[in-house]
Amino acid sequence: MSVSFDIQERELTAEEIEELQREVRRLAKEKNAVILAHYYQRPEVQDIADFVGDSLELSRKAANTDADIIVFCGVRFMCETAKILSPQKKVLHPNPESGCPMADMVTAEQVRKLREKHPSAEFVAYINTTADVKAEVDVCVTSANAPRIIKKLDAEKIVFLPDQALGQWVAKQVPEKEFVIWKGFCPPHFEFTAREVMKLKEKYPDAKVAVHPECHPRVIEIADFVGSTSQIIKYATSVEAERVIVITEVGLKYTLQKKNPDKEYIFPESMNYCGTVYCCTMKGITLPKLYETIKNEINEVELPDEIIERARRPIERMLELS
Ligand code: 13P
Ligand code: SF4
Repeated sequence: MSVSFDIQERELTAEEIEELQREVRRLAKEKNAVILAHYYQRPEVQDIADFVGDSLELSRKAANTDADIIVFCGVRFMCETAKILSPQKKVLHPNPESGCPMADMVTAEQVRKLREKHPSAEFVAYINTTADVKAEVDVCVTSANAPRIIKKLDAEKIVFLPDQALGQWVAKQVPEKEFVIWKGFCPPHFEFTAREVMKLKEKYPDAKVAVHPECHPRVIEIADFVGSTSQIIKYATSVEAERVIVITEVGLKYTLQKKNPDKEYIFPESMNYCGTVYCCTMKGITLPKLYETIKNEINEVELPDEIIERARRPIERMLELS
């Protein structure tokens, strides 16, 4: 059968969603494709993924899958990481326009220049970086493992890029090392303000506060818990509190409610840089785009062999150290 939709031009009906989901699952089986999705993906996409996870878990899945095709519902750096770890596989990205603005805040050329200035430092890149940047660094980290990995490194000086918020949060936990931190940031996370979180705390005094480490340091200071999306899910669904204020992208609410519907999860409602309460590039992956991509095997992620070779080292080192 053939299904055709004007992507994002109108809301899909429940029947259309079901039909597309059925077709995507049928095609995935027929083509031996695995569908990986990040927690910030739309619910209708998460529902038909083989696996939903945070950046670290998704990298592990991409490295170990038996599938012939990986369809990655996430932003570009995540698809590139999958290609680097499984270069012989076809990796498809349902929306090639969906990049991560933070990942584009540092270039390989800038990293090379920084190396000249800090020759004795170990260069640590957040997984939210381009493949070209990964090819220049010593080790990658995610928000789930950054403090643990950096503590294990030999160097006394760490150059951390590109996320200043994550870098500062890690630096506080590893005071024995000197940090040089790049000034990148996640536009949606950096727009949550401490004032806004304090207001939510006043409104819900019994609530716990869980925060993603990409948030501004003043927001992190208020948190009862700081961690990656998966770590927030574990904390928020099990902590002894009826309500949890969750400071991250609103896509996480779907999983939280599914995992533990007995609690109330409160997310900030302020608009961010793209006039939404969500990460607009993550939400750029739609069900019709996923369907067209898997059906026609389009939007293949391609990287030069030399970049794959060099970028694999820091990612594999991260997987070993975590
Ligand atoms: P996690 O690794 O915590 O899922 O975060 C990825 C990300 O892009 C957060 O903005
Ligand atoms: Fe990038 Fe921030 Fe969106 Fe995550 S939430 S993909 S860091 S812009």
